[in-house]
Amino acid sequence: MLSQRHLLGIEPLTQTDITTILDCAETYAQANRAHQKPPAILSGLSLINMFFENSTRTQSSFELAAKRLGADVMNMSMQTSSVKKGETLIDTALTLNAMRPDILAVRHPASGAADLLASKVNCIVLNAGDGAHEHPTQALLDALTIRRAKGRLHRLTVAICGDIAHSRVARSNMFLLGKMESRIRLVGPRTLMPAGVEKLGVEVTDDMAKGLEGADVVMMLRLQKERMDGGFIPSEREYYHRWGLDAAKLAAAKPDAIVMHPGPMNRGVEIDGLLADDINRSVIQEQVEMGVAVRMAAMDLLTRHVQQGEA
Ligand code: NCD
Repeated sequence: MLSQRHLLGIEPLTQTDITTILDCAETYAQANRAHQKPPAILSGLSLINMFFENSTRTQSSFELAAKRLGADVMNMSMQTSSVKKGETLIDTALTLNAMRPDILAVRHPASGAADLLASKVNCIVLNAGDGAHEHPTQALLDALTIRRAKGRLHRLTVAICGDIAHSRVARSNMFLLGKMESRIRLVGPRTLMPAGVEKLGVEVTDDMAKGLEGADVVMMLRLQKERMDGGFIPSEREYYHRWGLDAAKLAAAKPDAIVMHPGPMNRGVEIDGLLADDINRSVIQEQVEMGVAVRMAAMDLLTRHVQQGEA
């Protein structure tokens, strides 16, 4: 079992929590690949997906993971809900809470939204991404993908590149990889680096060649245009030239370095399309595959309290 009742972020997790989730997810990943149907351990439980931001892969991944374990799933379409009529996050949450779901997966543009929700409802809350704060299931699926490719999570050099400032994926990955004792390098333009990030014990550079030198893992991030209000980058063309990953820049990393991206990708902006599709280097599709396994594991482990009548 986990030390936490909810999955709100990687920051509150212990090293043991992380390993427990990854080990459980590994079992599900193998079963999924072998087309084995797992026991319906979430049968009789319900998941509500509350996505206040558009999402394809994360929402469908939560849905598939829950259904594979026998849960009932409801997708709230927040674009057409009463939120449009001015209802607050808390009111929406309390209304849903009154329907007695067992699990809420929430994505919201405001940092801290998942924590706030968890304090108001009595079901289990999984953070599916809150503002630029955390995206824990993404970091866990990234970790599982890395562990499968490299055989470990410690003593690796991981370059996280691009739009760090707006990225909850980068933050959750920094917490996770830091806890697992890997070396983290942040690479990108100064304008897209959060102020004072060096204090987190990570190396920071705006030079791709230096940042990728000897890296085991190269993790690219999407340029979050929707969160920018101008002036962060000179132009997309110039950005690609300096920070877009292509085969030439990747040559600075270890010869067996893997290439990752959480998706959705801006091909030709942060990554060369051919490289993204190169199955010898890119594990982007495996990340999606591991996403289902990690969400199955997270819901399995978090609901064990409920199943034992403790919650
Ligand atoms: C990420 C997200 O939403 O934070 N995507 C995802 O979950 N697949 C990254 C992004 O939007 O760039």
